[in-house]
Amino acid sequence: MDILAIILRLFHIFGAVIWIGISFFIFLSLDPLVKKLGPEGKRLQGIVLGQSNLNQIFPVAGGTTILSGILLYIKDSAIFAGNGLAYLGTGQGIVFGIGGLAGIGVMIMGARVVRPLVDQAQKIGAEIQAAGGKPTPEQAQAMASIDERMERINRIDFVLMVVAVLCMATARYF
Ligand code: HEM
Repeated sequence: MDILAIILRLFHIFGAVIWIGISFFIFLSLDPLVKKLGPEGKRLQGIVLGQSNLNQIFPVAGGTTILSGILLYIKDSAIFAGNGLAYLGTGQGIVFGIGGLAGIGVMIMGARVVRPLVDQAQKIGAEIQAAGGKPTPEQAQAMASIDERMERINRIDFVLMVVAVLCMATARYF
């Protein structure tokens, strides 16, 4: 019994289920609902994304998935058992590699692009609330531009996640 592989796989799959599951929920259910509800939807979005524990869950689940995935990749490749880089050229190595890179891309975008945009939106939102709830034209424009960028990034993230799931689900059979 390969205890290390079992432990890494459990971390990997639990992490991925939580990370990708919540992301898919946001993209497929929450975002369309926010759009449909208008200003009420914006309030709902602010509460769900700003006041829940998602900000803690996302980096932990994403980080766990990626770290365990990289360790599994190193283990499968047997690089340190004298196999060199041969695994990287096999069908399985290539497909797990593509899926892994897609997942890492989502994580990097989340930390470097999405997080700062969410912080910026929360800051402007707090300023609007503090001034009585009515945004100035500059604030409304800044919020609209953040929304537009977020929508574009979310779409790219969703595609990358689908690529990651497709690769992970099928790599073993290449
Ligand atoms: C982005 C989200 C990810 C999801 C949803 C995901 C999902 C999965 C699933 C369901 C498996 C089991 C597949 C099987 O045994 O046939 C798996 C295995 C694996 N994943 Fe991921 N994964 C993700 C990210 C990553 C990343 C970033 C890496 C890093 C390179 C990675 C590397 C691996 C490897 C090497 C295996 C094979 C493990 C083994 O041999 O037991 N994964 N992944």
